[in-house]
Amino acid sequence: MYGMIHRAARSFAIAKLGEPFWTKFAQRRGLTDAAFITAESYSDEMTFGLVAGLSDASGIDQPELLEALGVYWIDYARQGPYASMMAMGGADLPTFLGNLNRMHGGLAMAMPGSRMPTFQLLGNSPDHLKLRYVSDRSGLDTFVLGLLKGLCGMFGVPADVRREADDREGLVFEIRYLTAAAAAA
Ligand code: HEM
Repeated sequence: MYGMIHRAARSFAIAKLGEPFWTKFAQRRGLTDAAFITAESYSDEMTFGLVAGLSDASGIDQPELLEALGVYWIDYARQGPYASMMAMGGADLPTFLGNLNRMHGGLAMAMPGSRMPTFQLLGNSPDHLKLRYVSDRSGLDTFVLGLLKGLCGMFGVPADVRREADDREGLVFEIRYLTAAAAAA
């Protein structure tokens, strides 16, 4: 994946596990700045290796780590160079999710070799929202769970987010709002 994802993982590790943890981790694995170039595309093997390594070194199991990284990514993306993209994504959660493919699609044009996920809204009612996540990668389901939780936080919508049974085309997630007031917001 692109280096911006590696940079987010590094920033996450420093914020959550501490600078000394990161320094030791990077030294042991021989990670230099060359692994964190925003506009460079790295092999998935390297990206998943980074996550697996962080999981091993921290003792946090991989699904849990990926979920926390997903939550973190939302705040991370709202700061720095992607802030305006996040701000323009939509005024509420369903609109934002509906715009996500266009956002990733725009980025993909400038990022040769990227493989962006797609999301399809399957249902949008006052009390819940259902969407399908499609990717040619596997193993990122809890990352998506964390991203969706992060987005609920960004929009100030208290909700339960969970994985539903997959359908044939992808992984299905349900966001169930916890308060009627939140759904209306
Ligand atoms: C401005 C904000 C964002 C930027 C700049 C961005 C950019 C990217 C980039 C560069 C990749 C890696 C693709 C590759 O290298 O092949 C990626 C992957 C991904 N993005 Fe985004 N993204 C943003 C927001 C979001 C949001 C809000 C979601 C929420 C659902 C999301 C979901 C994902 C997922 C799940 C992947 C993993 C790739 C896969 O599933 O195959 N992204 N994004």
